[in-house]
Amino acid sequence: MKYNRILLKLSGEALMGERQYGIDPQRLAEYAQEIKQIHDKGVQIAIVIGGGNIFRGLAGASNGMDRVQGDYMGMLATVINGMALQGALEDAGMQTRLQTALEIKAIAEPYIKRKAVRHLEKGRIVIFGAGTGNPYFTTDTAAVLRGVEVEADVILKGTRVDGIYTADPEKDLTATKYDTLTFEDVLKKGLNVMDTTAFTLSQENALPIIVFDMNKPGNLVKVCEGELVGTTVNV
Ligand code: GTP
Repeated sequence: MKYNRILLKLSGEALMGERQYGIDPQRLAEYAQEIKQIHDKGVQIAIVIGGGNIFRGLAGASNGMDRVQGDYMGMLATVINGMALQGALEDAGMQTRLQTALEIKAIAEPYIKRKAVRHLEKGRIVIFGAGTGNPYFTTDTAAVLRGVEVEADVILKGTRVDGIYTADPEKDLTATKYDTLTFEDVLKKGLNVMDTTAFTLSQENALPIIVFDMNKPGNLVKVCEGELVGTTVNV
């Protein structure tokens, strides 16, 4: 395998499947099977999951809610998704640990970097919940932060599009996909890969990002094998 330790970022929306809200158990089970393929090949897996299928802090703020309050609600949404994913992964036979940036000791371990790394070394999948534990930060930023902290080889951003395009492929039919980009290219071309905080953190730490379609069966294992799937952003 090309990568020994990965940080997989999944969006909360991805868990909705065909629904408009919440969690689709079928989709969860499918993701668990995708993740199992790389787990069986010995890849160490850390996961950060978003919460947008349940609550988005920014959306709350645009409806008049206090932004900080909304962001904390969003963090709790990621814990719910983390618990759901943990259940699905364990049903599929994997060992997992859920660690949260906000302490909720009855349901998860508090985030402790050294403990997370130890779990990874023992082949447990570590899910990081509650984002960074701070308002005004996205779960993409949490993904890069945790990726840097546990010394992941790469951030795998699993989305529903198959990479980074010259323009939004859902709006512009002439848009074409990039296979590889440098961090500089992304900034120069003004492409939207992650929010600025997340992207800068990744660039400063030379942590590559691969954007790929997580809904296509077999893609995750191909990415980990080093096949050119999606778009790779590197130094
Ligand atoms: P090792 O030290 O490598 O054996 O890791 P371990 O996670 O198996 O050991 P530990 O004794 O720390 O944890 C045993 C179980 O308790 C695991 O399922 C942990 O996820 C869980 N656990 C540990 N700390 C906490 C906590 O603060 N809250 C909750 N809810 N569970 C915890």
